[in-house]
Order: sequence, then C-alpha cells, then structure tokens
Amino acid sequence: MNVIWSNYIQGANTLYYSRRLRFDDMFAKQYQTLFDLDMDQPLKILEIGCGPGALAGALHRWYPNAEITAVDRDSAFIRFATEHEKGITFMEGDATTLPFADNTFDVTISNTVSEHIEPSAFYGEQRRVLKPDGICLVLSSRKGIQVTPSCLAPTAYEQQFWEKVSRYDDTLEKYAVCKYPMTEAGLPAAMEQYGFIDIQTGFVTVDLTPDNPKVPPAMAHDMINAERLGALDSIASVFCQMPERFTAQDIEEMKRLTNEKYDTRIALYERGEKQWDTNVGVTMVVRGRSKKAE
Ligand SMILES: C[S@@+](CC[C@H](N)C(=O)[O-])C[C@H]1O[C@@H](n2cnc3c(N)ncnc32)[C@H](O)[C@@H]1O
Repeated sequence: MNVIWSNYIQGANTLYYSRRLRFDDMFAKQYQTLFDLDMDQPLKILEIGCGPGALAGALHRWYPNAEITAVDRDSAFIRFATEHEKGITFMEGDATTLPFADNTFDVTISNTVSEHIEPSAFYGEQRRVLKPDGICLVLSSRKGIQVTPSCLAPTAYEQQFWEKVSRYDDTLEKYAVCKYPMTEAGLPAAMEQYGFIDIQTGFVTVDLTPDNPKVPPAMAHDMINAERLGALDSIASVFCQMPERFTAQDIEEMKRLTNEKYDTRIALYERGEKQWDTNVGVTMVVRGRSKKAE
C-alpha cells in the first residue's frame, strides 16, 4: 500500500476540490479545443497519475462515449476517486510499468505528473500502451496569478509555524517531487524526443475570482473552501512528515486559526464586501501523436 503522495505531499481534499474547479464545465470548451479528440468515437482513454480523480470525472462528462481508465500508485487516492467519481475504472498502477498490454488505448492523458517521472519511462510507457496513431496529452501547470485577501494573511503564530516547517522540511527531495521540471519549450521537445509527432501546444486559463459577479454563489463558496481544504491538508501533512517537531495542540491551533480566517472570508463574501482575491491558473496542454516503430 503506497500513500506517500496523499500523506506527505498533497492530500486528497486539496487535489480533488481544487481540480474540480480547474476542470469545471465552465472551462470545458478551452480544454476540448486543445485536446482535439473525436467526441463521437468510443475512445479508450487512460489517465496516468489521476490522483483523487477530478480530471477523470471531467473526461467522463465531456466525452460520454469514451471508456475511461485511470491509474495512480497512491492507494488512498484510488480509494477516494472510486468513492467520488462514478463510471470510471480506477486502479493502482505505476506510470513506469503500466499494467496494460501494448496498443490498448486511443488516448493517454496526465495533469501535473510529467515533472515527477523520468521522461524516457513516462513517454516510453505511453507509447507502448497507445495504439498506432494514438494521442498523448500532457497537461502541466504554469505560473499564474495569485492574490490573497488581507483577511487570509498569516498571523505571527502561523508565520512561526511555517518558518519552523521550512527549516526541517525535506519532503520534496526525499520523494523526488518535481525532479524533472520542464520549460514551456522543453515539454514539446521532450515529447518529440521520445517518439511523438505532430506536436501541438496551447494554454487554458482558469480564472477563479469569488467576487466576480458572473460566478454563481455556490461556486464562489467552493473557490474559498477549496483553498481552506488545501490549507488544512498542508497542516495535516506537516504532522505526518515531522510528528516529533510539533505537538497535537500546535496542529489543532493551526487548524483553528485557518478555519477562523476562512470563515471570515466567507462572511465578507456573504455581506458583499468585495476582496477581489483571485487565483488564475494557467495549464499548458501538449498534444502529440504516437509514431510507431517500423
Ligand atoms: C501533482 S499530483 C497530480 C494528481 C492529479 N493528476 C491531479 O491533477 O489532481 C501527482 C500525482 O502523480 C502520482 N504519481 C507520481 N509518480 C507516479 C508513478 N510513478 N506512477 C503513478 N502515479 C504517480 C502521485 O501519486 C500523484 O497522485
């Protein structure tokens, strides 16, 4: 049982609720244009490193004729995804030794996974399981815009907590997180280097601004609460990473402060006191076609 990612790096709530917004139907057209897949075909799609399943859920809505399989090596994510997203086959599996026969899928897709896996294995396995002329889609987060409202600014207690964490935190090196980062030029070049042709690139912009009047109230709440859940998951991860450095009371106090601040943010929203905090995510989409060896 592997629960490294969900325990130490990003919790299931963080990934699921932030990605549900990133892959909201409001942005479907942007993704569908760049994916450029035939909606009418019964495509066999494989998502690699699916985490708790939000992108797989979006693919199921956007391509109702497709058969979707999604793998991740973290068993807690697979359990969470199976409970939260229906109509998809979720299974544990490693991207470097995919548990599928050669020439099985029409499409492979991944979101914020390529930077964690050695590229020859990452692309090589996708080429192996893709049918001739199959499509590989790699989604990668790029620098966006983040504006935090003053009501969410860290208190002195929180600042001290995070300073102490940063002094001892070796999680990223220990688990090889982001060991293979690539630039916007490097990503398509890598896809080409590892045997894909007809490479195309594009960018999806997801603007999450709760105070924007065109955002329905339920979605504005989801935007604020997705950040809250991410903050709470980060605090819980600290306790998993370095239980000897913090007491249960430290962790409880951090959670209390976090909830108090996000409750204030919600109350300001309810009263119509606009903060104009925003989180603009930019996702690069790289699309290539598998060139089979002669
Ligand atoms: C940044 S998370 C992204 C998760 C998901 N794609 C999303 O956007 O919510 C990276 C994911 O890759 C998975 N992962 C990392 N290395 C992997 C490997 N070798 N095989 C399968 N999954 C892997 C992690 O378990 C984690 O779920």
